[in-house]
Amino acid sequence: MNAAISVDGKISTRKGDSRISSYLDIKRVHKLRCNVDGILVGISTVIKDDPLLNIRFTECMSTNKNPVRIVIDSKARIPMESNIVKTAKDIETIIAVTKSAPKNKLDELREKNLKIIISGEHGKKVNLIDVFKQLESKFEIKKILVEGGGEINWSIVKNNLFDELIITISPLVIGGRKSITLIEGKGFDKIKECAKLELSKIFKKNNGEIVIYYKNATKTIL
Ligand SMILES: NC(=O)c1ccc[n+]([C@@H]2O[C@H](COP(=O)([O-])OP(=O)(O)OC[C@H]3O[C@@H](n4cnc5c(N)ncnc54)[C@H](OP(=O)(O)O)[C@@H]3O)[C@@H](O)[C@H]2O)c1
Repeated sequence: MNAAISVDGKISTRKGDSRISSYLDIKRVHKLRCNVDGILVGISTVIKDDPLLNIRFTECMSTNKNPVRIVIDSKARIPMESNIVKTAKDIETIIAVTKSAPKNKLDELREKNLKIIISGEHGKKVNLIDVFKQLESKFEIKKILVEGGGEINWSIVKNNLFDELIITISPLVIGGRKSITLIEGKGFDKIKECAKLELSKIFKKNNGEIVIYYKNATKTIL
């Protein structure tokens, strides 16, 4: 998992502005993207940021191929005019939906070259554990970079689906009860139930940003 946060733990302002990182940090993330099979985000991030999720600010040494883009989107709300749909002819893209997703929208997405994973019952969220299994068995996607937002981050943490958490802390205070934090969702009830991390590395950048690498203390990282 990778995210850029403010000092007070927010990943966007209350109005949805999430341009927290410096150019140098964006470059670091794009280098990270070179080393994964897939980049995964939640549908609200696609709707609010309209990202491309490709590699632009660096050249990959080992491969020129863009990682597969994976959008978690129960009801297939992804806009047809979004950058992700518009570029799906050139960059492999998977939308993970539930049985609630309208069939005609799925057909429209398939026409635009998007692949569909159906996982999860009507009225429920996408079953991420099953999606991760399908990504590996059907698409050979083993190494995934989760790039938020807060709701997806919570589901990833709650289901213990992460190995490493990389956070850039920018020297900013965003504030606001309605500003989205690194981990949203319901949250754990008790401290003893919380996800346990081990500090791995800390880097300080010139402009005051701090990049922190944590390992998931309950998982063995290969
Ligand atoms: N600073 C950063 O590093 C960073 C990175 C990424 C995003 N952001 C910001 O984060 C904000 C969006 O975050 P967000 O928390 O509102 O939304 P999000 O995590 O991007 O997307 C959440 C949505 O995904 C869908 N979903 C389907 N299955 C799910 C599951 N199992 N678990 C969780 N979600 C599931 C749900 O919508 P449906 O029920 O409709 O499927 C849910 O509301 C944006 O403002 C963006 O700019 C910041």
